[in-house]
Amino acid sequence: MPKFKTIDAINVSGKRVLVRVDLNVPMKNGQVTDATRIERVAPTIAELAAKGAKVVVLSHFGRPDGKPVAEMSLRPLVEPLAAVLGKPVAFAEDCIGPLAEAAVLALKPGDVLLLENLRFHKEEERNDSAFVDKLSVLGDIYVNDAFSTAHRAHASTEGIANRLPAVAGRLMQAELEALEKALGTPKRPVCAVVGGAKVSSKLELLGHLVAKVDRLIIGGGMANTFLHAQGINVGKSLCEKDLAATALEILEKAKQAKCVALLPTDVVVAGEFKANAAHKVVDVHACPDDQMILDVGPQSVALYQREIAGCVTLVWNGPLGAFELAPFDAGTTGLAQGVASLTLEGKLLSVAGGGDTVAALAHAGVEDKFTYVSTAGGAFLEWMEGKTLPGVAALIRAA
Ligand code: 3PG
Ligand code: MG
Repeated sequence: MPKFKTIDAINVSGKRVLVRVDLNVPMKNGQVTDATRIERVAPTIAELAAKGAKVVVLSHFGRPDGKPVAEMSLRPLVEPLAAVLGKPVAFAEDCIGPLAEAAVLALKPGDVLLLENLRFHKEEERNDSAFVDKLSVLGDIYVNDAFSTAHRAHASTEGIANRLPAVAGRLMQAELEALEKALGTPKRPVCAVVGGAKVSSKLELLGHLVAKVDRLIIGGGMANTFLHAQGINVGKSLCEKDLAATALEILEKAKQAKCVALLPTDVVVAGEFKANAAHKVVDVHACPDDQMILDVGPQSVALYQREIAGCVTLVWNGPLGAFELAPFDAGTTGLAQGVASLTLEGKLLSVAGGGDTVAALAHAGVEDKFTYVSTAGGAFLEWMEGKTLPGVAALIRAA
């Protein structure tokens, strides 16, 4: 992996350090419902503060589309962030201009300040150069700790790295190191598990993976498209029939690359997409016309387990079934627990990411039993697709 600098390379004592984090956390009625992203970024902020930096925290929240939207203010994040850090966090009602400048000026070494939502200014997403200047004057050093936003070429994720000395924070560093081990230069054999509802959102991913991994487990609604493409009846399952030819091309590409693609051999079917709907396990060739596939069956999970046991590296994106509806979570939960066991036994390096994936692992009670679980959704997917993430590229250029 090309090199980027980390906090180890800089002296932050007494300096104003702009730290880009991703506080785009799930909230309900003004309360944070999942503090994972806050907890994962806190060590960077705490380390900088402990080293005597004046820490200025930058983040976006939601998609306010370039104007202030009260419900998307970062103010409700002040207390949760302070609670995790165990120290007070100041707040400025704007991320640039006089309000931000005055708040930064008031900082003493070791203090932490959170600035208002970057996306309240349309120039942020446009990576506008005058806006980059206005952010840059607030700091001496830039630390990017927002891997989950690194797929965006915005002022605070890309532009600013060209203006100030720029290094990766601890979370960014950990994400990049884990991903490098999983897909960059992995120990072989490598297995990828790819699930999710629609194959259309994962075409680039599958096309890229077949050339990189030794086994490819395809699950979730998207597996139906592959089954249909092979002439297997999928009843009234979710299926993108217009992508049948593309699915066959992916399987052919896998064959050429000597990547073993694994589809379900048995499936769980039901008449309706509903929790606890009447259901049964059938052979993959026996889906009734009036039923839909909602999960992979136990025989498939056992097959996947055996294949994974023959690998030393695993990367996972997307659930294998409708995991949010019991009992159609069984396939995903079963395989996730199997991966967790192999990981705990030291036999497998396992890396997972993506919004639904992390929710599914948490549901299975194993989100802390994988080698690494990314905080990123879209950025993780783009990285798995082999794309260059602008935020990461800017750090490498700056190194
Ligand atoms: C995320 O939650 O995926 C990141 O914060 C990026 O958000 P965005 O998709 O609105 O750019
Ligand atoms: Mg997103």
